[in-house]
Amino acid sequence: MTHPGSAQPVRIGIVGLGTVGSGVVRLLVDSADHITRHAGRPIEVAAAVVRDPTKERDCPLPAVQVSTDIRVISRDPSITLAALLVGGLEPARSMMVELLENGKDVVTANKALLAEHGPELFELARRRGRSIAFEAAVAGGIPIVAAIGECLAANRIESIRGILNGTSNFILTRMEEDGSSYSEALALAQAKGFAEADPSMDVDGTDATQKLAILSHLAFGVWVPWKEIPRTGIDTVDIDLIHYAGELGYRIRLVAVARRSDGRLAMRVAPALVKIGTPLAETRGAYNAVSIVGDAVGRMFFHGLGAGQMPTASAVVADIIDTVVGRTAITFRTTGVLSEDTPAARVAGVDASERHFLRIRVTDRPGVLARITGILGEHGISIASVIQHDPIDGANRPAAGGSTVPDVSLVIMTHSCPSSSVHNALVSIDQCDAVRGRSDCLGVLDE
Ligand code: HSE
Repeated sequence: MTHPGSAQPVRIGIVGLGTVGSGVVRLLVDSADHITRHAGRPIEVAAAVVRDPTKERDCPLPAVQVSTDIRVISRDPSITLAALLVGGLEPARSMMVELLENGKDVVTANKALLAEHGPELFELARRRGRSIAFEAAVAGGIPIVAAIGECLAANRIESIRGILNGTSNFILTRMEEDGSSYSEALALAQAKGFAEADPSMDVDGTDATQKLAILSHLAFGVWVPWKEIPRTGIDTVDIDLIHYAGELGYRIRLVAVARRSDGRLAMRVAPALVKIGTPLAETRGAYNAVSIVGDAVGRMFFHGLGAGQMPTASAVVADIIDTVVGRTAITFRTTGVLSEDTPAARVAGVDASERHFLRIRVTDRPGVLARITGILGEHGISIASVIQHDPIDGANRPAAGGSTVPDVSLVIMTHSCPSSSVHNALVSIDQCDAVRGRSDCLGVLDE
């Protein structure tokens, strides 16, 4: 038997040498022996395409041709595989097309591209007899794409619930654990390489929503236009909300949910209260978590780093190895993943019967609490607990507009009730004279 190390190397191209691309090169070089054993032959980075070739890179690039021209990879017949590791839609889409048109297999971490243009790109790959692998596009180092797409293939998946954005989770954890401000925590997430080039995609829930759309496609066999998924980001969460949640025994996490519901998919991405001690609440920093319920396997829980250089590189390199040994091509041929004739999902919001956490800012005067609880009662909503701190303790806001009557936060935990009832009640509550601004409403996950 030939030793893998003495076999002809596979020559690959890397498009993008940012955080993830540099990590991939480093892993391929530092773990070459180990990777060669798994791939059956050495993997050699032959060329890299970048925006700025003069920039210093934090990775070893021995004898690698670095260019700004994608054709250095796409038109080189000795290169069979390209790792497309740039974010955003363009030029990523055009580069993927160029690579596929020229017969390259592609590995990518770009979830925005797949969530937006997945079916057309996958059709093109099929027509050209090539494959696209995308484990790194969802939940960083957690092998969730393989888990749902292959390992759990025998199951009818009932639901997915998860924390899918490492940056948001990192920010919420820093705010909660060391009192960092939102902007300090975001700056640190950017410095650590967790955030997207445009971090608003992380904090407004876009990134998690695109990942949920991809996972839902794999789990439920439907195409989910990600913009149809109701979405709220953590940019709506402030330190007071985190403190109030803590008083009640909860943490706040950005939770993505998709579940079957009467022929539809009930979906949402939104900050929610998760009970301290449950796995989602214990998911800290840049970690991601995914909980899946399959009819045969039951509930499964996956946990691992969902953002950052080396966890993401781990997933990219696993895809490169799978493609080199031919596993990706088999899966690609047999699963029909992201094909153009996949039926579109019928997406509905989550009208969960669950507890809800409300924060209503009010003017502290007689009858206000009675008025608000009255409206909740009219909508059939029963109250489990109420917090209102005495304004004298300084925890509440000063009076607006020079009034001597202070504004206070009224925090209400409801008993289990439909989300639609709470939203209807809040429409009426927010119209009351004593209510200041829009009230907050977060779902509560007790398990
Ligand atoms: N910006 C993403 C996150 C990283 O924070 O989760 C990779 O998807």
